[in-house]
Amino acid sequence: MAYRRGNHDPAGSLAGTAFPLRRSVAITSPADTANPLWGGRFGGGPAAVMQAINASIGVDKRLWRQDIAGSRAHVTMLGAQGILGAADVAAILAGLETIEAEYAAGGLVENPALEDIHMHIETRLAALIGPAAGRLHTARSRNDQVATDFRLWVREACGAAIDGLDAFIAALLARASEHAATIMPGFTHLQVAQPVTLGHHLMAYVEMARRDRSRFADALRRMDECPLGAAALAGTSFPIDRHATAAALGFARPTANSLDSVSDRDFALDYLNAAAMAGLHLSRLAEEIIVWASQPYGFVRLPDAWSTGSSIMPQKRNPDAAELVRAKTGLFLAAFQRLAVIMKGLPLAYSKDMQDDKVPVFNAHDTLALCLAAMTGMVETLVFVPERMRAAAASGFSTATDLADWLVRAAGVPFREAHEITGRCVRAAEARGGDLDGLSDAELAAIDPRITPAVRDVLSVEASVASRTSFGGTAPANVRAAIAALTPLPVDLRSPSAGGGAGGGND
Ligand code: ARG
Repeated sequence: MAYRRGNHDPAGSLAGTAFPLRRSVAITSPADTANPLWGGRFGGGPAAVMQAINASIGVDKRLWRQDIAGSRAHVTMLGAQGILGAADVAAILAGLETIEAEYAAGGLVENPALEDIHMHIETRLAALIGPAAGRLHTARSRNDQVATDFRLWVREACGAAIDGLDAFIAALLARASEHAATIMPGFTHLQVAQPVTLGHHLMAYVEMARRDRSRFADALRRMDECPLGAAALAGTSFPIDRHATAAALGFARPTANSLDSVSDRDFALDYLNAAAMAGLHLSRLAEEIIVWASQPYGFVRLPDAWSTGSSIMPQKRNPDAAELVRAKTGLFLAAFQRLAVIMKGLPLAYSKDMQDDKVPVFNAHDTLALCLAAMTGMVETLVFVPERMRAAAASGFSTATDLADWLVRAAGVPFREAHEITGRCVRAAEARGGDLDGLSDAELAAIDPRITPAVRDVLSVEASVASRTSFGGTAPANVRAAIAALTPLPVDLRSPSAGGGAGGGND
């Protein structure tokens, strides 16, 4: 059926959207929807659709704690600088405290006419304390206000990510320690390559997670500057003390340039970049768990708590949590791209496009917290099956390199020639349908007389891994040393408020 303009059913296929487009939308809505905080210049209120596209309260309500913290620091500084009188400061602080208690207890009542969290709080303040509320916005703009609130929020989100990664790393270390000497196949091209230890394999993820952790810590260091006091874009003529507000909010210093202060969202992009990298690593481990849990591998058994059954196939035990981590972690890449695309075309300083910066970051935080918790839980409880891993490690001529290395070491054969001799041994073993270990001493000597029975010392998978003691190698002794070197984790520079986790919803 052809689409006819203006003739679609508003209760039809689009009814699930928040704002079905009705033909009866008034171009100018009644004056009672006019914004009380900036409405002075305007004759009428915004069109309903304008209000719908303009309001961000549904999203930025999550900044309420940060907004109150920023206002407290600001008004306290205004008092200390003699810009506001003590009575006004006391009234504003008392009002903010009441609002904080109200929101903590019952959330806020959303009113799209009040656009965003900043106006909700200021309007509520006015209702509580009267005209003194109007003095709070002295020497401030929503531009530096939101830049500060959002930075505070992202700072907490970095702290939460670091805490989540620490728990994940602790789980990996515990399992790596348990399985420092457990043999498994190491793969290249997903073909059995050489035997490795499970502890070594898990420690590879510890390395990745530590790099991820350092990216969040690094982002924290860089975002440790406070934009409050940049005002709309040019600074202010009031004698404010930006060093005082920066210190009160736990920042090392104020930002240096007012234009940059209100137009910079690098801190959010840094966060999303760190999340994208962490997600990429979580996804790779999720993929391995999925493969390992499949029947042909059988390297791990997923505990009941981390698997689901099938409604039709009673024998199934599906690695859903790992699959969902694999799926969800793509969100970080999309979130980074979404915010980068918002920012890349913007002239200095603030543009309203920047209001849309929060959705990708909030989504990323929620998803990262969930994925880290799920992966930590899985790593803690996976039931490894060492017999299956050892059997797979011993298959596929995985000690061929050990044989070649032995020829080099024990018989002085050049490596290239040793490689060729070993290839003939593999062919002979393959023809017999066995492994290298299955060839008799006579058969080996027939291939090359320099192969003596002493070679047996390196043909087992245990001997193979034990011999790989080069720095960073897979030997059980190396794994134990690597774990010991990492416990306890080095303490990274953390912001004073970091670690509590970013607040969610209207709690
Ligand atoms: N809700 C806005 C945002 O998140 C606050 C800043 C509004 N500034 C402005 N100039 N309209 O970006």
